[in-house]
Amino acid sequence: MPTRRTVLNAALVTAGSGVFTGAALTPLMRHGEDAAAVEPAAANVDAPAIEKFKLRMPVPRVLTPYSTSDGVDRYRITMRTTQAEILPGLRTTVETYGGYFPGPVIRARSGRPVAITQRNSLDMPTSVHLHGSSVPAIDDGGPMETIAPGGSRLYTYPNQQSHASLWFHDHAHHMESEHVYRGLYGTYLLTDAEERSLPLPCGAYDVPIAIRDAQFDAAGQFVYVMGDFQNRTTLMANGVAYPRFEVAARKYRLRLLNSSNLRSFRLRLADGGEIVQIGSDGGLLTKPNPTDAVFLSPGERVDVVVDFSRYAVGTQLVLENTLLNGGPAELLGQVMRFDVVRTATDRSEIPSALRELPPLPQPTAERTVVLSMDETGGANAKGYINGKTYDPDRVDDFIRHGASEVWTVTNTNRFVPHNIHLHLVQFRVLERNGQPPAPAEAGLKDTVMLMPGETVKLQATFDTYRGTYLYHCHLIDHAAMGMMAQFKVS
Ligand code: C2O
Ligand code: CU
Ligand code: CU
Repeated sequence: MPTRRTVLNAALVTAGSGVFTGAALTPLMRHGEDAAAVEPAAANVDAPAIEKFKLRMPVPRVLTPYSTSDGVDRYRITMRTTQAEILPGLRTTVETYGGYFPGPVIRARSGRPVAITQRNSLDMPTSVHLHGSSVPAIDDGGPMETIAPGGSRLYTYPNQQSHASLWFHDHAHHMESEHVYRGLYGTYLLTDAEERSLPLPCGAYDVPIAIRDAQFDAAGQFVYVMGDFQNRTTLMANGVAYPRFEVAARKYRLRLLNSSNLRSFRLRLADGGEIVQIGSDGGLLTKPNPTDAVFLSPGERVDVVVDFSRYAVGTQLVLENTLLNGGPAELLGQVMRFDVVRTATDRSEIPSALRELPPLPQPTAERTVVLSMDETGGANAKGYINGKTYDPDRVDDFIRHGASEVWTVTNTNRFVPHNIHLHLVQFRVLERNGQPPAPAEAGLKDTVMLMPGETVKLQATFDTYRGTYLYHCHLIDHAAMGMMAQFKVS
């Protein structure tokens, strides 16, 4: 019999979050006594002490295409290891796209293809997946479509989809979780005429921020133990532990990505100040969602505007995380700090209407998806979709091209949260536990969280490419434990 502690160690228990109402909480969280009985995770005894807010948060490098002829933006990226200063004064070996840590940014436009030649100079196979994209199956970066060490592969992205804050990351089967942990992720900002027509903050005031956790040893090297969420207690923003970011007293658009393997965040400003959510995974919401906290499970994106003009120059404002899961508050409660250092003019605005979303078509099919994993805490724990672990030779779901399907997804675990990510499509959340979705998840989504016991109904329309694609839990240690399945559109 596993003890509660071992279950929790394996399990990533996530306490309540902004988008979930009380009804959504599991008994574990509702009664509180179990949560209280969990001893705080031993703080990472080996980890070096970290001086917070010492290093600056880097703004990720925007790559320049080597060619833009024939209407295609062409890039070359080499995956290789390098060293990065994540912890003040220490050098950490990281795996990167192009030597950049945090990963680089590709800026793309709808209707204009991007072609990337990825060379693998690492010593393990890799596969590059553009998360949130609609691309032909051959370019989707499947788990078995790997690039051998020393090899390279051309990925072509047609960008026949509307604007969205996408990201790319490794997907090589059984290795993706460790590769992403060590740095193989980057940002892909797809824009279109609809988005560009809006007076939102842009240029230097439009900043991608990837937030995640990690465990380090005394020398500052990453420690990767599959499923070991409890010991990943150092938080990073754009590849630096607890950085500070100097801002002007004006509006900023912040494109938040949770690139953690297992950890979810609930982020707020230390003063409880307003955060205006303008977008989610699949681009802008229909209208702004003013809030004081945003929730992000692994793989999800939330696009927000923060107006720093309400703060005096000299103000230091910490971005807090309120999902501690029994872990040490001094490590998990703060992510980064915004330092308001100057004034600036600001002609940007947040329009009261951001975009139109087409009405949902009449559904043509229904499907049930059950997410679960072994809650034994053992090293051999496996994850399941509809009771099965991933088999690359098996198609789990056959979908007619053009179908608009309603998927009823349930997390049947008692302790372990999951989420579900579909390749190829952006979907709509129809219901969470029988209730309409909160404004935060009422837009286009490609990844949605399910706390233990929760059920989400989503609707996806498969009217673009045909072929075999993945869907999986994006707590990617779980994906590596088998929690993936395949649908085939034909
Ligand atoms: Cu973020 Cu299957 O991917
Ligand atoms: Cu994906
Ligand atoms: Cu999972």
